[in-house]
Amino acid sequence: MQITLETKPYAALETDALVSYVFEQSDSVQGRISEIDQATGGLVRRLAQSGELTGKNLEFTLIHAPVGLKAVRLLLVGAGKREQFNSATLRKIAGAALRYLKARSVKSVAFLVREGDANEESAQVVTEGALAADFESDKYKTEKKNGKNIESVSVAGYSDAERAAGEKGLSKGRVIAESQNFARDLINEPSNKLTPTILAQKAEAMAKSAGLYVEILDEKKISELKMGALLSVAQGSVEPPRMIVITYNPPSAKPGVPVIGLIGKAVTFDTGGISIKPSEGMEKMKYDMAGGATMIGVMRALAALKPNVKVICVVPSTENMPGGRAQKPGDIQTAMSGKTIEVLNTDAEGRLILADGVYYAKQLGATHLIDAATLTGAIVVALAGVNVGVFGSDQPFTDKLLASAKATGEKMWQMPMDDEYREFIKGTVADIQNISSGKGAGATIGAMFIKEFTGDSPWIHLDIAGTAWNDDAKAWLAKGPTGVGLRTLVHLVMSY
Ligand code: BES
Ligand code: ZN
Ligand code: ZN
Repeated sequence: MQITLETKPYAALETDALVSYVFEQSDSVQGRISEIDQATGGLVRRLAQSGELTGKNLEFTLIHAPVGLKAVRLLLVGAGKREQFNSATLRKIAGAALRYLKARSVKSVAFLVREGDANEESAQVVTEGALAADFESDKYKTEKKNGKNIESVSVAGYSDAERAAGEKGLSKGRVIAESQNFARDLINEPSNKLTPTILAQKAEAMAKSAGLYVEILDEKKISELKMGALLSVAQGSVEPPRMIVITYNPPSAKPGVPVIGLIGKAVTFDTGGISIKPSEGMEKMKYDMAGGATMIGVMRALAALKPNVKVICVVPSTENMPGGRAQKPGDIQTAMSGKTIEVLNTDAEGRLILADGVYYAKQLGATHLIDAATLTGAIVVALAGVNVGVFGSDQPFTDKLLASAKATGEKMWQMPMDDEYREFIKGTVADIQNISSGKGAGATIGAMFIKEFTGDSPWIHLDIAGTAWNDDAKAWLAKGPTGVGLRTLVHLVMSY
């Protein structure tokens, strides 16, 4: 799908569909919508007066052959109350409009931003919304949804003077959405098509073409480095583990400035190991590498956006299988940090591989750590698919991340990390145990475990178990992988 900026007057645009958005207020026919109303001989006002067009959030009004416009169709999308309107709403409107029109075999779309909205941010979010909405999980279908492809989108409503800002936003939005879709593609891959080895190859290929430094540690190197926690999970599988390390190190990075470590859980399939999961729904555990894929996607975006800060991405990758050599409940393992772990449940494997991941990122020089992981079923119980669970050891750093989440329209909710929870993982026979000895607070317990390996570095853990996968399609996003977290993390790094 091609996406460009358009400065021609919208009435003259020859497109399959001209799209704009309408607010829910007593007189919704204002500004540019009022111009369209006049051009179409009072059509919009008539629709508003009849009650068909109300401006309610994501209400669609499709008008065919609108008089006075060159466009074949006019689509007006409800944007809700004007006071509540922001860039997150605009992104969703653009995405929902794209999916609505795509389903109707439309080929070309012009998205008209409203008066006052022709700026860099609008172009960015419209681009992000449209490109993310275009993503489909049909790679392995031999018969594609034939013909249903939007070929071009133009972002309209910009004057010549506003073109430079618009172009800038558009190219930023393209980088971010394409990186998000890159991550979603990885997440979608089934485990027979994406082993730790293949994931590492794909990450390496991306890093090389983006000009990033990359190193793939194989099982031999992982053993030499004594990453015992990662190895303990990997030993149950015939597929060898990988530790993927991608570094972005700009010449502009100043000494004394934070070095950000991004660590992502990449379990390419989680059977639970010997503490095996029920078969119902187990197929979904191919997305247990979403945290790792998201971090790799973030690096792809950073390579193009070029922030002034060094970023080290560390992705431990393995399968969690109940093979003959698999670790068993009660086994004691020594992590890279030297801490001993009693593995009471082999299904709590994400925290094990992240223990070595965060520790290694620190060793490589990261001063600020952020991990993303599909870590617990408990976060799904607490927050469902609505919010990412956020856990942090340093409030100013966590606040910075929450601000980035807000700015990029990704919903995140901070969860507690009180010292009292430390008691729950205190070991009886080893230093710590990988599950709680008590009941409740499962997501916090998982976070507390990872914290053990972060020393005194500011650290944030994102539990994306509930949000990395959409069980149902949204109006603006297909069913399947979401790539959640990527926009927030890119924004956070860019803000340094
Ligand atoms: N990968 C799962 C968590 C998960 C659950 C991801 C649902 C996506 C959707 C993780 O490895 C796991 O199995 N966690 C256990 C931990 C428990 C044994 C303490 C869980 O949440 O049940
Ligand atoms: Zn598990
Ligand atoms: Zn898992």
